[in-house]
Amino acid sequence: MKKRIGVFFGGQSGEHEVSRVSATTVINSLDREKYDVVTIGITKAGEWLLYEGPVELIAPGEWEKKAREDLERDPGHFAFSVLGSAGHKLTDIIDFALPIMHGPNGEDGTVQGVFELLNIPYGGSGVAGCAVTMDKIIAKEVFANAGLKQSPYIAFSSEDIGKGIEEKINSELEYPLFIKPANMGSSVGITKVTREEDLLPALRLAAKYDSRIVAEHGIDAREIEISVMGNEELSFGAAGEIIPAAEFYDYDAKYNNEESKLLIPAPLSEEQLKAVREMAGKAYKAAACCGFSRVDFLMDKSTTEIYINEINAIPGFTSISMFPMLMMETGLTLPEITDRIIELGYERYSLKNNR
Ligand SMILES: Nc1ncnc2c1ncn2[C@@H]1O[C@H](COP(=O)(O)OP(=O)(O)O)[C@@H](O)[C@H]1O
Ligand SMILES: [Mg+2]
Repeated sequence: MKKRIGVFFGGQSGEHEVSRVSATTVINSLDREKYDVVTIGITKAGEWLLYEGPVELIAPGEWEKKAREDLERDPGHFAFSVLGSAGHKLTDIIDFALPIMHGPNGEDGTVQGVFELLNIPYGGSGVAGCAVTMDKIIAKEVFANAGLKQSPYIAFSSEDIGKGIEEKINSELEYPLFIKPANMGSSVGITKVTREEDLLPALRLAAKYDSRIVAEHGIDAREIEISVMGNEELSFGAAGEIIPAAEFYDYDAKYNNEESKLLIPAPLSEEQLKAVREMAGKAYKAAACCGFSRVDFLMDKSTTEIYINEINAIPGFTSISMFPMLMMETGLTLPEITDRIIELGYERYSLKNNR
């Protein structure tokens, strides 16, 4: 019998729209000879809706209207209450979950926790891997513990703003600075600060998104990324390089500015590529990642020193996103990549349950 793969898209984070585009790529790549595909959209308000319309309506957001119309016709059938008894049970309609959501409530272990509770195998990292990589402060502590080089940083609470944290940052870190909310993505809430007088507004902006904030030294860096797949044994995609069209790779440069360039493969020496792979593997294991991830680095332009920046547990999966392109560079096709993600999900599930 064909496995019923539930692809989850949307979600409650600022990356809802990106998720719809990522999920569309994944849905289209799933081999219909092998799988029955079930699509479940999570609205910005957090409702889980079974969506049975055309895939093309997912990216532009029109899926939601259709899902709601179906819901009105047949309330028992189309709505999910994650923990309540209303509606259909998720376990009745899917065998495997593929969450393709970015940011909080999707990529941070929460949705993964639901699949754990329901005992559904799922693709990608588990609760711990997602939670660790979503929180930039915890991720940095984990990377430090694994002996990985990173830019000097200070972690603090939004409560500390105006109570001495500015002075501490100014005395301990060198400008330029990057001020980041700990739990976001797509560069939302991040400011590059080059002058002391701009620090406070940057802190206040970050505080709008999270009470946990990081200040770190900004490196004049090349941005190098690598895709990783596996549970125990890891395989690597090519390394890629991003040349942002802006001061840094902010939201606009990521999604709107077509001048941002991707170099695949990244022009690196054998030695540098080896170092990137080694660091990526260490970081992936240290952060308890499973299935697949994209690991991002900053390479100092003057010293060529490589620093780890972050891991994305559920990286962008649009047809022009780094993760799939770096994997495809090694000869895999998109359907082979999604197949592998499903295989690895089942492998992790059986490792966990058969002991
Ligand atoms: N320490 C740093 N030095 C130089 N550039 C940085 C630094 N930290 C972040 N950036 C820039 O900001 C972008 C977004 O930061 P990142 O930590 O990757 O957050 P996000 O999770 O939103 O992608 C990076 O892609 C890079 O362009
Ligand atoms: Mg990033």
